[in-house]
Amino acid sequence: MNPGHKGTLLALLVLLGVSAEQLIGAQEFKPNYDEGKVPHYTLPDPLVLNDGTRITRATQWWTRRRKEILRQFEINVYGKAPGRPRDQEFIERDVSKKALGGKAIRKQVSIFFLKGRAGPHLDLLIYLPRDAQKPVPVFVGLNFHGNHTVNADPDIAITESWVRNSEELGVTENQATAASRGKNSSRWPIERILERGYGLVTAYYGDIDPDYDDEFKNGVHPFIYRGFQNHPTPDQWGSLAAWAWGLSRAVDYLETDRDINKRRIALLGHSRLGKTALWAGAQDQRFALVISNDSGCGGAALSRRRFGETIERINTAFPHWCCGNFKNYNERENTLPVDQHMLIALIASRPVYIASAEEDLWADPYGEFLSAYHATPVFELIGKKGIPSGQKPEISRPIMNTIGYHIRPGKHDVTLYDWERFMDFADIHFKRGTTAESK
Ligand code: GCU
Repeated sequence: MNPGHKGTLLALLVLLGVSAEQLIGAQEFKPNYDEGKVPHYTLPDPLVLNDGTRITRATQWWTRRRKEILRQFEINVYGKAPGRPRDQEFIERDVSKKALGGKAIRKQVSIFFLKGRAGPHLDLLIYLPRDAQKPVPVFVGLNFHGNHTVNADPDIAITESWVRNSEELGVTENQATAASRGKNSSRWPIERILERGYGLVTAYYGDIDPDYDDEFKNGVHPFIYRGFQNHPTPDQWGSLAAWAWGLSRAVDYLETDRDINKRRIALLGHSRLGKTALWAGAQDQRFALVISNDSGCGGAALSRRRFGETIERINTAFPHWCCGNFKNYNERENTLPVDQHMLIALIASRPVYIASAEEDLWADPYGEFLSAYHATPVFELIGKKGIPSGQKPEISRPIMNTIGYHIRPGKHDVTLYDWERFMDFADIHFKRGTTAESK
């Protein structure tokens, strides 16, 4: 194609709403959006041990099978992450009892991971309903562009971490400015969250690891390097695992905050941060409830369906997200010892909610639903209710068992409708006392 035509074609695709990320390295990739062309596949059985034995008792799930599956995800998909850093420190930078017109308590806390406050740190932004009885349940979620983008509150500190340049957000030279204050507030209905009696905790994912492929030089990855090591080994953490690790560090702090109910910490994430939330929630049982919004491939969607984004596509456009070993499964989904229904199963017996959007075909809404459905036998084995039927769910008819699901009309996004359902789901489970410790 002559370069002029190529430019016009790219401009046209952008006009049609195809994101720049979908285009990177993907000129040749044609996603399948035809249900009739989904390949025939057999899913690995979450209730069969690696040695072929079928498990029939809940105790076998807890003592054997859960561990096997966790390990498989660790070494084949997301990569192994370190534990809690020994010298981690929490610095309270701001507490206001009169935030958001007097409705909220706002706290800003920095988590330093290394001795002497060296290296990157994670800045938490916390809003709690001022008049609610403490400790309060909270939703925790990473944000895409900095804490100052979630609300126009002028006292939110602007991140100093690397941020993707964006005309819309007024970001140039990868540094955020006041121009992006409140720009993502439609995804973070804080006033409504407070009104329903919940707190919100958020942090910028780029504080943990900037989201671009730099061969793991920046962010937290160098923490694990030993001797001359300058890159994670093929089974060590990629960026999704690093962001998930950061979420667990946020909980390390939340457990120390007396205004927060540490048994009622709900975790949520959208898109790549939905993949992150599922992996964080799978590993760290301090998250009492886990929500994935439009997480798609590498999140809730079944990889074997190859509908929309595929493993190969994700490994090509975002080679830093998963561990090196995940590349062995490009175009070879059937050889992967796990599929994403097993990630949902790892969250049992805690409540897990999967949300899809009708027009978000890239994330394979039906594949997200099927993961929830195929995780159900694990929930049932341990006495919980999952998704009773594999039939395509109706639009805007949420299911709210220990596994919950909805598909709403519209695009890839987090809307008020999504949030209201997440809070309905949390109301049901938190008030009934279905928490991490009651398994
Ligand atoms: C891209 C990517 C998805 C991801 C999404 C996002 O579309 O292909 O896997 O979920 O970005 O995070 O917004």
